[in-house]
Amino acid sequence: MCGITACVGSERTVPTLLTGLDNLEYRGYDSAGIAIQNGDGLSVFKQEGKVSDLAERVRRRDPTATTGIGHTRWSTHGPPTDGNAHPHTDCTGEIAIVHNGIIENYAQLRSMLKARGHELTSATDTEVVPHLVEERLDQGATTFEAFKDTVDQLEGSYALAMVAEGGDTVYATRDGSPLVLGVGEEANFLASDVPAFLEFTGNVVYLENGDTVVMDADGYEISHRDGASIERPVREVDWTAEDAEKGGFDHYMLKEITEQPTALRQTIRGRIDPDRGSVELETFPDGSFADVERVQFIACGTSYHAALYAVQILSNRGVPADAFLASEYTAGVPPTDEDTLVVGVTQSGETADTLNALEMARERGLETVAVTNVIGSTAARTCDESLFIRAGPEIGVAATKTFSSQIVTLCCLAERIATDSTDHCPSETFVQAIEELPGMIESVIDRSTAEPAAIAYSDSDSYFFVGRNEARPVALEGALKLKEISYEHAEGFAAGELKHGPLALVTESTPVFAIATGSNEERMVSTTEEIRARDGPVISVAPADSEIAALADHNLAVPETHPDLAGVLANVQLQLFAYHTASLLDRAIDKPRNLAKSVTVE
Ligand code: G6P
Repeated sequence: MCGITACVGSERTVPTLLTGLDNLEYRGYDSAGIAIQNGDGLSVFKQEGKVSDLAERVRRRDPTATTGIGHTRWSTHGPPTDGNAHPHTDCTGEIAIVHNGIIENYAQLRSMLKARGHELTSATDTEVVPHLVEERLDQGATTFEAFKDTVDQLEGSYALAMVAEGGDTVYATRDGSPLVLGVGEEANFLASDVPAFLEFTGNVVYLENGDTVVMDADGYEISHRDGASIERPVREVDWTAEDAEKGGFDHYMLKEITEQPTALRQTIRGRIDPDRGSVELETFPDGSFADVERVQFIACGTSYHAALYAVQILSNRGVPADAFLASEYTAGVPPTDEDTLVVGVTQSGETADTLNALEMARERGLETVAVTNVIGSTAARTCDESLFIRAGPEIGVAATKTFSSQIVTLCCLAERIATDSTDHCPSETFVQAIEELPGMIESVIDRSTAEPAAIAYSDSDSYFFVGRNEARPVALEGALKLKEISYEHAEGFAAGELKHGPLALVTESTPVFAIATGSNEERMVSTTEEIRARDGPVISVAPADSEIAALADHNLAVPETHPDLAGVLANVQLQLFAYHTASLLDRAIDKPRNLAKSVTVE
């Protein structure tokens, strides 16, 4: 996720762009840049780091302009460096472009442009765009034609904004990534999201996929793919900038829970082929893991639960695997041999315990892979290879969408490892279920009864979560999420362990969440009966028509899917339960007491 912004017509275009980027920093924050048009032509300022670093540099130079575009980046292609920061320009430096999204056919376009003599200097997918525009301009097209023809060649998702030297016009389009137009009195604006320009205008036009906009100080024109002009309604927003950043949600956590379908579509984009039942990972061509005999996962917190889930997925495919808490790994180094693959799972890529453990594995000569959300993170730079979960930035301290994206990324990795290193045959049903997962999460969120369940059980003494196999890490995660944000006592167990101790604590005021994933339903039914015999209320997380749902006091329904993925759906229900419980208790949901998003000390 990145943020783009544009402004035309204001004498204060430069500070306006910088304010816009500042308000969009929640969409990405590893590098930033602006391109502005003034009497001297096009000037580009861009650099690695925060928007505030860029703003300081720009202010020192004090440029003036009435037209410009800006970008705050969350890397998806290429690490966060000055060169990879947007805007990107063509060979002549007369075209500047900002982009949010992924251009899937960039490799092919890049080779074609290089063969024709273009010099591309960054590692981004975006840089092909200004060069394609340059090509069409050389062939005699107008700037608008060159922009439109270029967009026609792109595959993937994008919101793009462009300025060209010598003109006070911004050209923009969207397909699959957001873009909103702000209609001001003397100036007009474009951005990925309303907060970018909300302090200048509250009159907005929400652009649709396929819309192209040509905007100058006097107005704007919107056309569709076929070239026909379109009128879109101008709406007035009455939110504050902060409300707008949260997209109308009360908390980032709820926003991020509902973003999971989008995040997962990004996670799997270009990585699965449901027709062939195959998984293709960009950094790991077929056969990459042929020599792997065993996998060790290292992680902390929620990422550790994702790692435990991955262990189960690998075990189901006959690959020996273990998950270690990073702090324990360094304390007592487990046995390894040269065919052990070490996978660090870390959303931020900056958790000190995980980095230390990965360093230790490297010192022992083991191959290391970072599964992370942050391209330029220390974990990504330290490990031999990286696999990015592509969830977009997560602001809420409690990990939600990154957990789902970690699991799905790890499922793809597990399928690849098993296919390469054992006689496991790629499973069409599994890969098809991955493809269907985002839509299923949408339906879970839309129909969830987690809020009434949270109200019904809000004065409980403790909450227990039980599950078997891949549902066990989900039980652990369900308990962690609830305790993190509600401060209520919650514990997760393997369902089979209930009778070896925790059952002593079960009473009528300790609800037990029984998580069924389809592979172990019969045994979960007997667990449910054990709990009910002690008067413990049971909240099942299972398909609506299942036996366990019929036995339970309340069911949080999940659709039927491949058993390896059912845990992801169940977890969404538990995220919502935790959220609503914390909300009823009026907790600081996005910033729970004593906790940090990323723990960079041991
Ligand atoms: C902190 C966060 C957790 C997170 C853990 C690991 O404790 O509060 O939500 O799961 O760090 O973070 P990582 O960035 O390594 O996934």
